[in-house]
Amino acid sequence: MPSSDFKGETLYLRIKDGQGYKVFSPFFVPTLDPYDRFECRVGLGYTRIISEFYGLRTEVTIFVPSGGAVEVRDIEITNTTAAPIEVDAVPLVEYTHPNALQQFTNADWIPQTMQSRAVQDGEFTILVQYPFMFRDTKLNIFSSNLPASSYETDRKLFLGDNEYGTWARPLSLQQAELSNTQANRGDNIAALLHHLGPIAPGETRRLITLLCQEANVEAAQTLLERWRKPEEVDRAMGELSAFWDEYLSTLQVDTPESAMNAMLNVHNPHQCFITRSWSRYLSYYQLGMGSRGIGIRDSSQDVLAIIPNMPQDAKAFLKTLLSFQKRNGSALHLFNPLTLEGSHGDSAEMEDRPDYYSDDHLWSILGIAAYLKETGDFDFLDEAVPFFDKDKQGQAIETVSVLEHIQRGLKFTRNDVGGHGLPLLGFADWNDTINLAKGAESLFTAHLYGRTLIEMIALLEQLGQDSAEWRIAYEEMKARVETAAWDGDWYLRYFDYDGTPLGSEQNEKGKIFLNGQSWAVLSGFASPERARKAMDAVNEHLNTKYGIKLSTPGFDGYDPRFGGVTTYPSGAKENGGIFLHPNPWAVIAETLLGDGDRAYEYYAQINPAARNDNIELYESEPYVYPQNVLGDEHPQFGLARNSWLSGTASWMYQAGTQWILGIRAEYNGLRVTPVIPKAWKGFSAARKFRGATYQIEVVRAGEGNAVSLEVDGKAVEGNIIPLAPAGATVAAVATLR
Ligand code: GLC
Repeated sequence: MPSSDFKGETLYLRIKDGQGYKVFSPFFVPTLDPYDRFECRVGLGYTRIISEFYGLRTEVTIFVPSGGAVEVRDIEITNTTAAPIEVDAVPLVEYTHPNALQQFTNADWIPQTMQSRAVQDGEFTILVQYPFMFRDTKLNIFSSNLPASSYETDRKLFLGDNEYGTWARPLSLQQAELSNTQANRGDNIAALLHHLGPIAPGETRRLITLLCQEANVEAAQTLLERWRKPEEVDRAMGELSAFWDEYLSTLQVDTPESAMNAMLNVHNPHQCFITRSWSRYLSYYQLGMGSRGIGIRDSSQDVLAIIPNMPQDAKAFLKTLLSFQKRNGSALHLFNPLTLEGSHGDSAEMEDRPDYYSDDHLWSILGIAAYLKETGDFDFLDEAVPFFDKDKQGQAIETVSVLEHIQRGLKFTRNDVGGHGLPLLGFADWNDTINLAKGAESLFTAHLYGRTLIEMIALLEQLGQDSAEWRIAYEEMKARVETAAWDGDWYLRYFDYDGTPLGSEQNEKGKIFLNGQSWAVLSGFASPERARKAMDAVNEHLNTKYGIKLSTPGFDGYDPRFGGVTTYPSGAKENGGIFLHPNPWAVIAETLLGDGDRAYEYYAQINPAARNDNIELYESEPYVYPQNVLGDEHPQFGLARNSWLSGTASWMYQAGTQWILGIRAEYNGLRVTPVIPKAWKGFSAARKFRGATYQIEVVRAGEGNAVSLEVDGKAVEGNIIPLAPAGATVAAVATLR
């Protein structure tokens, strides 16, 4: 049971049994009797809490029906015993002031402003809550579908004994009725007491509660009336499952590994939907308050995973992201999704450092290419999107086509180079926490630039346009990387402002970085021999049983020359921790090198479903990717943190589906080029693509990755299934030799 800082929703049940009241909350686990049960399911778009205490089975489903105007709690209480049970139900909400930080720090202003009122609407009670300044504009409204016999809005009275009562044992629930107090200040709650009466053996009662925010009670009436009806709630739940069935039907796979199937068919695409919507914005770990908005870099990667499922959403979102690009080609770092204000993020905080990140503007190029391959909607390239720069009236100074946005970004990086001709680091690159002095160069940005150039060249060729300029740029950068960045056994990661390398054998700390190796493969800059050697070095120096570390050895102590990374102890987060987001890049690199066994090993070792066996150590949900796991230099090696909102979701989904299973959208069809473990006999998949459905059967006939393809019974050259008309179902067999 949370302590006195509980802010949220709960439900109390109480049983009248002649002796008095037995009060408990099916939301919280008391000491579990062997006959009791408690289960919390995170469904697709809803949460369901199922519990069984004292013979009462309670199933509470919490969700927001599409449209988003109201939160519904659908409560079903069943008597599983052989005798009738007399039950009262008290659903409750505890409010915080909308300025949630002030709620915790300002004990003067906040409590004086919080107010609650009760309004009787026929047989129903509506509890209204607001900070005084929002009295006429924004009311929190709570009601239910059954008559309440009393209510409480003052937390002090609810807990009782001047708040010596606790959430585990609120003293007011030992009284027959709540006090019907309309709070004029203080900590506000909304609690409604419903007498459900005796519930017969086997009988189920249903109570629905509604929480919404409206300008006034009248405006909420229609909503409340609608959602009090159980049939409306049932219909909305039906719609929700239909949405997810459709969403997930874009790709369904059947591989020999059940943990991979569970992730790729349900949980991973679900998490990708969440990261697309929220980026790192709403999270218990990363605050949605203050200056932290949605990352341009983060969202540009999150969107990659949902393009097959929601191409129109992806397109609109990519345009939003492009509108935070500046005329010089670089981009802002963060934006607020509600106000669409942009900011330079942390880079604005240090005056002697550049105010841009060297990678932000490049990521959306990957998204645009992926969107075009998925849809064939080349008109998108001509759509007009403004740059972020504004005149004094707040109007955009320049608006250009999507294609010009791409070119501007590539030109920025082409010109923004340092002593070795490599891209300048800016404030940071993907690794936000290594903040070297002005003039430092980034190998990561060089590689990302290389990867985006590969996409740009392919796109121009697809359009029948001249790509020579970008081919030259690619070869130029490749030559610089190959000349300057090979350390002997692996690639460097940075050059400091004075040319000192980081990520080199000669460094005492930070000798080798994962991204320096995997991205040398992804960019195509590494020669085959160096690529293999670099990825072998990853395996030797960075791999652990819980995932691949970002770098090693960790820095040991704060050092302003390197910045944020040295604020963490060794083994935590970016400082030699298992930062998961780059792990799938190693998976992809291994597939590019043709090693299906190692690619799958890297995939499987961070599959959260596989960590359920040591959940006491892992401490993260077994169905979502967390952001980081503590590395082997840390005493708590294996502990995961920051679940849900991580770029790991998007990249693991891409790595699993497009690179291990090898099913990728291309401009002219659906490529099937699996790089799977040698021991797999094959797998099957159903992929919806440009309106047609492709049933793909992969059969292993040899140990290699060479594909012979048969489409609807006929042999096809290469490994691309040609585009089929919308509505068609295509059967393809890919034989691996
Ligand atoms: C966090 C940031 C992301 C960054 C990563 C590595 O996840 O949101 O932008 O790339 O850390 O520093």
